[in-house]
Amino acid sequence: MNYKLLGRSGLKVSELCLGTMGFGTEAGWGADKDTSFAILDAFTKAGGNFLDAANIYKLGTSEKIIGEYMSNHDRDYFVVATKYSLKDNISNPNASGNNRKNMMRSVEESLKRLKTDFIDVLYLHIWDDLTPIDEVLRGLDDLIRQGKVNYAAISDTPAWMIAKGNTMAELMGWSQFIALQVEYSLLQRTPERDLIPMARHFGMTVTPWAPMGGGVLSGKYLRGEQGRVKAESNRRNDRSTKIAEAVVAVADELGVPASHVALQWTMSQGFSSIPIAGATKVSQLEENMKAVDVKLSAEHLQKLDEVSKIDLGFPGEFFREAAVKENVFGGFYARIEKRK
Ligand SMILES: NC(=O)c1ccc[n+]([C@@H]2O[C@H](COP(=O)([O-])OP(=O)(O)OC[C@H]3O[C@@H](n4cnc5c(N)ncnc54)[C@H](OP(=O)(O)O)[C@@H]3O)[C@@H](O)[C@H]2O)c1
Repeated sequence: MNYKLLGRSGLKVSELCLGTMGFGTEAGWGADKDTSFAILDAFTKAGGNFLDAANIYKLGTSEKIIGEYMSNHDRDYFVVATKYSLKDNISNPNASGNNRKNMMRSVEESLKRLKTDFIDVLYLHIWDDLTPIDEVLRGLDDLIRQGKVNYAAISDTPAWMIAKGNTMAELMGWSQFIALQVEYSLLQRTPERDLIPMARHFGMTVTPWAPMGGGVLSGKYLRGEQGRVKAESNRRNDRSTKIAEAVVAVADELGVPASHVALQWTMSQGFSSIPIAGATKVSQLEENMKAVDVKLSAEHLQKLDEVSKIDLGFPGEFFREAAVKENVFGGFYARIEKRK
């Protein structure tokens, strides 16, 4: 396993992050405690250190399993990311959302479940469309100054709001968001419109969630195997079937499992990306970790791009078309090396 720096920070994380949403058997799916421990054993044995959790996963069971595991291992080895925002088992108007009161309450509860006195990376989980972004950043910065959190990050939020927050944090001397968690895979490419260009601009690492489309891109449903994605789900339709078939075709040419191609694609798009791969069995995790060694050729990337590409919409399509095809910026455009 190699390591990458998480966004504009010196924090070293494994190039694959382990998603722990499936730790616990609540809601009729997932890995029991022993299997979760075995998944953590296999992940750390291979050099993985980056774990993705949330207060809400399996109603707190996921964090409890990680806490119990870490208390029997070296807590400092792990880079534990968790999230706040979604309501857990407490019911009052401020026990959910992005507000400061919920942030502080949720972090205290996460620290107890994780049996630790600090969280490495705290994500805002989902934008509530209510809380001022300066309230969020100031709260995160206070937690960092208190030593309860080391780094701030954000998930499932509009690009313009994150851009406003990071700019404000820079001006105020507060800690900025260093990572962006979004659904991103060959099935879900709409973050390419604004979120990913925004993350590149701010030097944030993108941490794609559901990089295998919840398992659809492993090709298991094409083979008639069972899994948690229901047949009537929007991840299993004509488009996703065509994409999964293309992933399987590329994987067959390379002689690797389809999951490797799906995961590696999210890491081969020219920006800093650490996919969060979920696993409910040790064998899945062991297979997925080898995805980091796969090399996709330009032809493979093109084939996968063609079957999955999306309309970038306005103004992306408009200015890219105009700049490249219509040459509206004069003859120099093609000769300028763009800032990375
Ligand atoms: N920020 C957010 O809003 C958000 C939302 C969702 C998830 N997440 C994070 O992202 C992580 C990953 O998301 P995800 O679990 O939905 O998506 P995923 O990683 O695309 O899919 C994982 C699922 O695919 C199946 N699978 C994994 N490896 C496989 C393999 N090698 N062969 C066959 N099947 C395989 C398993 O499902 P079966 O049990 O069906 O076999 C597994 O639970 C979560 O654990 C969580 O940490 C974040």
